[in-house]
Amino acid sequence: MNLSLDEQYWTSRYLQNQIGWDVGQATFPIKQYLDQIVNKDLKVLIPGAGNAHEATYAFESGFKNLHILDLSKYPLDKFMEKHPNFPASNVHQEDFFLHNGKYDLIIEQTFFCALLPNLRNEYVIKMHQLLEKEGVLMGVLFSKSFEQDGPPFGGDIDLYKSIFENHFEIKTLEPCYNSIPPRKGAEVFILLKKKEI
Ligand SMILES: C[S@@+](CC[C@H](N)C(=O)[O-])C[C@H]1O[C@@H](n2cnc3c(N)ncnc32)[C@H](O)[C@@H]1O
Repeated sequence: MNLSLDEQYWTSRYLQNQIGWDVGQATFPIKQYLDQIVNKDLKVLIPGAGNAHEATYAFESGFKNLHILDLSKYPLDKFMEKHPNFPASNVHQEDFFLHNGKYDLIIEQTFFCALLPNLRNEYVIKMHQLLEKEGVLMGVLFSKSFEQDGPPFGGDIDLYKSIFENHFEIKTLEPCYNSIPPRKGAEVFILLKKKEI
């Protein structure tokens, strides 16, 4: 595949409003997981956040130590316009793979599927590096293949198990029971705890 999935590519998708992945709000699986967290001081990262609906939900639910990151400045600026009280220093316009930090929880929502498949092992290693001891990677991944060349790029449970299991204790990796209707039967929920290696 010759397509370069760089900042320019993603920004042009936003400018042309070709953002079919954006469901306009945080999805149920992520909302439900966040709802049962009592400690709102957890340091949370949302990489490839785009319009960052999960961040809106978490912020409005009282999470204080929330960080969003995206290659593209466009959606991050829009987010800040809507949420002027959100700390600007927690908004990172940066390549995920170059980001430094340590987080208790990282939220995955249509970021993994946006990356070229040859970056998947690097994604796993970077997630592991960005998490605190016993930190958690939580979210949803597509469990289907796509006919056209991606993004999005698909996958399945066996593939995800094989790429995550060396770096993460797999707490949950199973079909998602509470996907939003258009993604029903096409997602897995992941709850992966950082392994000490
Ligand atoms: C499919 S969109 C998903 C956006 C958002 N998570 C959502 O569900 O609406 C993928 C996002 O990842 C961002 N992205 C792609 N590669 C990235 C990278 N290497 N580092 C940071 N962000 C990246 C894109 O700019 C885009 O906003």
